Amino acid sequence: ASASIRLDPAFVVGDVNPRLFGTFVEHMGRCVYTGIFEPDHPTADEHGFRGDVAELVRELGATVARYPGGNFVSGYNWEDGVGPAEERPRRLDMAWRSIETNQFGTHEFLDWCEREDIEPMLAVNLGTRGLAEAIEYLQYVLGDADLELTRRRAANGRGEPWDVRLWCLGNEMDGPWQMGHKEPHEYARLAQEVANAFRRLDPGLELVACGSSNRQIETFGTWERVTLEASFDKVDHISAHAYYEPVDGDLTSFLACAEDMDRFIREVVATADHVAAVKGSDKRIGVSFDEWNVWYQSRFGGETSLPIQEAPRIIEDVYSTLDAVVVGSLLITLLRHTDRVAVACQAQLANVIGPIMTEPGGRAWRQTIFHPFALTARHAKGRVLQLAVDSPRIETERHGSVEQVWATATHDPATGAVTVLLANRSLDEDIEVAVDLSGLGDPALVEHLQVHTDNASEVNTADDPDRVRPHAGTSRIEDGILTIAAPAVSWHCVRLT
Ligand code: AHR
Repeated sequence: ASASIRLDPAFVVGDVNPRLFGTFVEHMGRCVYTGIFEPDHPTADEHGFRGDVAELVRELGATVARYPGGNFVSGYNWEDGVGPAEERPRRLDMAWRSIETNQFGTHEFLDWCEREDIEPMLAVNLGTRGLAEAIEYLQYVLGDADLELTRRRAANGRGEPWDVRLWCLGNEMDGPWQMGHKEPHEYARLAQEVANAFRRLDPGLELVACGSSNRQIETFGTWERVTLEASFDKVDHISAHAYYEPVDGDLTSFLACAEDMDRFIREVVATADHVAAVKGSDKRIGVSFDEWNVWYQSRFGGETSLPIQEAPRIIEDVYSTLDAVVVGSLLITLLRHTDRVAVACQAQLANVIGPIMTEPGGRAWRQTIFHPFALTARHAKGRVLQLAVDSPRIETERHGSVEQVWATATHDPATGAVTVLLANRSLDEDIEVAVDLSGLGDPALVEHLQVHTDNASEVNTADDPDRVRPHAGTSRIEDGILTIAAPAVSWHCVRLT
């Protein structure tokens, strides 16, 4: 099969938003404890962070980190996680039925973000708690006057406020599983009140209202509309969450699930713009896609099946090449919406459906899905281009007819660098993709890396950590045409200059 793409730097979607390459650190399973943070690990630094994981986090290139949850935040007392470590309480986290030792908290997280040059995104508990505690937390983190809360912060080792611009007003409050779950009108009012109060401290904050936990939930669309009708003037973004897995073994639809993410973004944008239209406003609300990934939820027995433990092994999915191709295609979708997606966070960073896996006291390694993320974060620079793609189509059960080749490209006017990212979403058809570069002059090929294995179910493990990794692909430039050979189930990063 063959496909063609026309690429011209004159056709621009928008600047590459670096916040698309965010991650998520939840107090869940082993994401924090024995994931990024393990004071007894041989590679741990003086702050208790694993050095081997820190190196992988840098290579991954995450720009933003959302914290502390997730469902966890809806039962969290932020006060438990500050102050002398030995005095912090052991609590039962009801979201994941885990014992939370609170040895990691706001100081550990925000100081780590500063050291690693990662932008923090904090979520407040609007489940079991509300406005009063959210305001106190905001003052604790951002206050710079002489107050009881800022004195407490200083006594805990931090005189200066941290710089936290992004705040999530709760987590998945639309989900019946959420502690303190709300009806749309209840959440709308609360979000408006919290946003209103937060703006009094700092009108420049970027506030994220909860949107829908998935596109299939009954309240999708209504939830966004009702929330934004109440809080439109006060918030900047509305969240969207999506996790994908093959349903009933349907790999064809799974490989095409970036289509669902694409439609999800378009629908949230349309709803937000509808509210803007009704209000006669030119304000544009951004989409905060602050949880997304492949997650084999069907393998998870549910929270109530979990024994109550410290740092349990929960949802430690081991990803295949096929999963990596899906993750690469989801990143392509996010880039294609760089003009409206304000933030995106892959959930989560380590062990819990993470690109990085660890053994307690032992090794750390890259899952297959690490690779498309790291390559995209490193090489998608400048502007996202609007491509003209002519591709054969694939018929899918869940998403209808979709393009076999799913692609985007970036162009950096400062350096002239061009990066083409594409996925062949067919399970069995190889394809040759001809990219017309005539708009670019006479570029040269710098590198072509692909994520592909003959057997798409290959995985990386502690003993075989590099089984799936990017390797050279086959491509050539002739007469201004870049030809990329894309085998079935493959993801590509082709760089030109
Ligand atoms: O990332 C795992 C969980 O998925 C989060 O805690 C929750 O927000 C979502 O349902």
